[in-house]
Amino acid sequence: MSEYLWFEGIPFPTEEYEKETIEESRDKFVIRDEDTVLVTYPKSGSNWLIEIVCLIQTKGDPTWIQSVPIWDRSPWVESQYGYPLLINNKGPRLISSHLPFHLFPKSFFSSKAKVIYLIRNPRDVLVSGYFFWSKMKFVKTPESLRTYFEWFLKGNVIFGSWFEHTRGWLSMREKDNFLLLSYEDMKKDTKSSIKKICDFLGKKLEPDELDMVLKYSSFQTMKENIMSNYSLVPEDKASSDLVLLRKGMTGDWKNHFTVAQAEAFDKVFQEKMAGFPPGLFPWE
Ligand code: A3P
Repeated sequence: MSEYLWFEGIPFPTEEYEKETIEESRDKFVIRDEDTVLVTYPKSGSNWLIEIVCLIQTKGDPTWIQSVPIWDRSPWVESQYGYPLLINNKGPRLISSHLPFHLFPKSFFSSKAKVIYLIRNPRDVLVSGYFFWSKMKFVKTPESLRTYFEWFLKGNVIFGSWFEHTRGWLSMREKDNFLLLSYEDMKKDTKSSIKKICDFLGKKLEPDELDMVLKYSSFQTMKENIMSNYSLVPEDKASSDLVLLRKGMTGDWKNHFTVAQAEAFDKVFQEKMAGFPPGLFPWE
């Protein structure tokens, strides 16, 4: 069990991240107008979104997603591994990030680059994170869900508070270069969500191409794709039973929260997310 790497009050994993890279990505990384940025709070379905956007780029052809690891296709700008890949990539780039709004590359805010921000019910994010981080060797691992629940509400978890992250990025929601998606809507109607992404990115897919995107990004197919299911994460970083595609459902929190936890969560959610229009968050 490791502690965190702290950067300006935000906890990062202790491996793969360094203060200098996070600082450099914020202050010096140049986002280009033709780049596409995929931002999520961890465990919101980030890799699912990346898989879909990659498949849209190839018009449903699975060759790319089946031959190149997901972290090379859309590198994480804040990570030690992803940052150099991105600066050396000359074409229009796919860029992933978990950074909170205020730590994101400053150049983005004067660019025309498009950003997709994917949100998920934070209760499910919490449960998904609990199981995932317990298998990782370079983050502080909780001994119980009860402990993790407390850390989560305080923002004492990787990439900080869900509430701050979401509030920060949602401040962009009226901008033309911002698309807000939710895991819940993607689950309910994946095809419509893919179409929405295509419209936003200005990509046109034939019906059969759209069907291929749907097929190759499905939970079961992605779970079997070693380039996307995190089975390539080396043993020194995670235990061998690490699973990225765990359940892939909405509302799993109901199987894990006590009644008291559910009430405590509601209270914090209402306090922290006050002021957003009803219906913005598509979970009950
Ligand atoms: P669960 O742990 O609830 O199963 P991230 O990519 O941000 O780390 O998010 C991981 C979560 O997204 C996991 O949630 C995982 O199962 C879910 N997920 C990944 N690929 C998916 C897919 N193709 N369809 C549905 N859910 C998917």
